[in-house]
Amino acid sequence: MEAPVTLEGFPQHLTLRDGTKVVVRSVEATDSNALLQFYRSLGEADREFLTDDVTKPEWVQRFVRLVQLHEIVSLVAEHEGKVIGEATLYRTPHGWTAHVGELRVSTAPAFRRKGLGTVLAHELVRVATGLGLEKLIVQMVENQAAARRTFARLGFKEEAVLRGHVKDIHGIKRNLVIASNDVSHIWDAMEAMVADFSPTSG
Ligand SMILES: CC(C)(COP(=O)(O)OP(=O)(O)OC[C@H]1O[C@@H](n2cnc3c(N)ncnc32)[C@H](O)[C@@H]1OP(=O)(O)O)[C@@H](O)C(=O)NCCC(=O)NCCS
Repeated sequence: MEAPVTLEGFPQHLTLRDGTKVVVRSVEATDSNALLQFYRSLGEADREFLTDDVTKPEWVQRFVRLVQLHEIVSLVAEHEGKVIGEATLYRTPHGWTAHVGELRVSTAPAFRRKGLGTVLAHELVRVATGLGLEKLIVQMVENQAAARRTFARLGFKEEAVLRGHVKDIHGIKRNLVIASNDVSHIWDAMEAMVADFSPTSG
């Protein structure tokens, strides 16, 4: 059996702004079923930005394997034994974009607007910078207002728009927005943000 993936500074016990207690930690092989349940509980529109079919057991097996191989980093937020949010960092191990990481964050609809998405994105940015990544990107569809707002608040700037690049679940072509940030800007923005958004420890 593989050793669990340990990430410095985790698990973290946090209280969201409505009092919900969550544990943020690295994903483990034993989370497979909970992860599947989480992704299956999201609406189809919330999953359409993901390039894998995250409702399939084959996906979760491959995903957990990639985490164990350190090819991706995944943080889960757990509440009362259930996964209520997940954030993934994708990297290219070699080549000219090896300094770039891509982030993806999803939270359970019942737990939105409580600061969870921001917490997960913030923690993953911290992990990414700790791994030495210099630039982070996030891909969002133009109408994903929550995602655009969440990452803008973390200092991400919209850098490119690929027109008609994605088709939504109704077959309508939409623009894909790529937002990015470099590490130095991220820390400036996050320091400023901590003042008005602070989930408490414990
Ligand atoms: C994007 C997402 C992760 C945000 O999660 P969350 O748990 O609601 O995040 P937060 O509570 O930290 O909210 C972040 C901010 O987004 C903005 N926001 C959230 N929902 C919004 C909505 N429906 N419309 C406009 N802005 C919204 C708000 O400014 C909010 O902060 P506030 O509540 O302090 O005003 C979540 O909506 C989600 O999983 N969406 C589907 C997947 C997705 O789009 N992922 C992003 C692509 S990587």
